[in-house]
Amino acid sequence: MKVHFILNGKRHSAKTPPGETLLEHLRKSGFYSVKHGCDEGSCGACTVLIDGRAQNACLILVQTLAGKTVETLEHFNLKQGVTPLQEAFLKTGAIQCGYCTPAMLLALEAVKRTHPKPDIETIREALSGVLCRCTGYVKPVAAAMHENVTEGEEQTGD
Ligand code: FES
Ligand code: FES
Repeated sequence: MKVHFILNGKRHSAKTPPGETLLEHLRKSGFYSVKHGCDEGSCGACTVLIDGRAQNACLILVQTLAGKTVETLEHFNLKQGVTPLQEAFLKTGAIQCGYCTPAMLLALEAVKRTHPKPDIETIREALSGVLCRCTGYVKPVAAAMHENVTEGEEQTGD
């Protein structure tokens, strides 16, 4: 069957077999920022934004996406290169193997759309759905807080 939705800002026509998950479809289509982990909604590695909300792509069937908007990390990098939040992750050492990083970045992006300067509890809550086996959460939380503080300053060169 064919399903039409918006993928990373462009109209996308997905030719999808019954039962295909969004995770399978995105990786098949070359969106490798979306990672394959548990395949059962537990690890969060496959996080994408659907209509602006962070969701696990392994639990979403492509056939349910008609008319929706899907975003992966590629959307942000194609639009603006390395994002300020990614810079903050690099500066604070919040990335080790990087397997969970796209999911963390998208979980934080979803939060920022409703809370432009999220507090630490909101950040922790946003990251709680993404399992990290390397870095843990102290540095990613610090990166999100750092971006909160420096966003305006860096634009003015301070
Ligand atoms: S692969 Fe989707 S939550 Fe683990
Ligand atoms: S940085 Fe390796 S799983 Fe998070």
